[in-house]
Amino acid sequence: MLSEKMINALNEQIAFEGYASFLYLAQAGWFENKSMVGCASFMYRQSAEEHMHMMKIFRYLLEMDAVAISPAIKQPPAEFKDVRTIFSETLAHEKRVTASINDLVALAIKESDHATYAFLQWYVTEQREEESLMRTILDKINLIGDGAQSLYFIDKEIEALNQATVAAEKAEGGE
Ligand code: FEO
Repeated sequence: MLSEKMINALNEQIAFEGYASFLYLAQAGWFENKSMVGCASFMYRQSAEEHMHMMKIFRYLLEMDAVAISPAIKQPPAEFKDVRTIFSETLAHEKRVTASINDLVALAIKESDHATYAFLQWYVTEQREEESLMRTILDKINLIGDGAQSLYFIDKEIEALNQATVAAEKAEGGE
């Protein structure tokens, strides 16, 4: 049985993951408007992945006989400065998600909630991978440069990374 505190914290995480899904959707739209289809595909997939992260917690709460709350989502921005800013902000957002997951893990330890502790380990690994992916993208942008002439090459690189991520996820069984 989950504590009230844990139920509330997991519901807050649902909202956090839901916001990430809608933020990445907004970024995908921005890229598509700029004809950067590789970056758009990457962000559409990230958005779907965040939705899946949200649903995993939603289902976990129900499985544990608790109330899962479908969250109100704050309106994400529709306009973004440039490609580098989008990925810098995405990395910063992922770091905040990691901190939030770490807080949940700390709470599970404090409450000797072994079921939630075990459940959260998937997120610990996922956050390590997501932060690493965003850092790789920023490294590539730093190497290529982000002037107007470079956008085509950035888009191709991110499309390649996107396809490699999809292939790796398929090999791992879809997550
Ligand atoms: Fe679900 Fe990227 O945090």
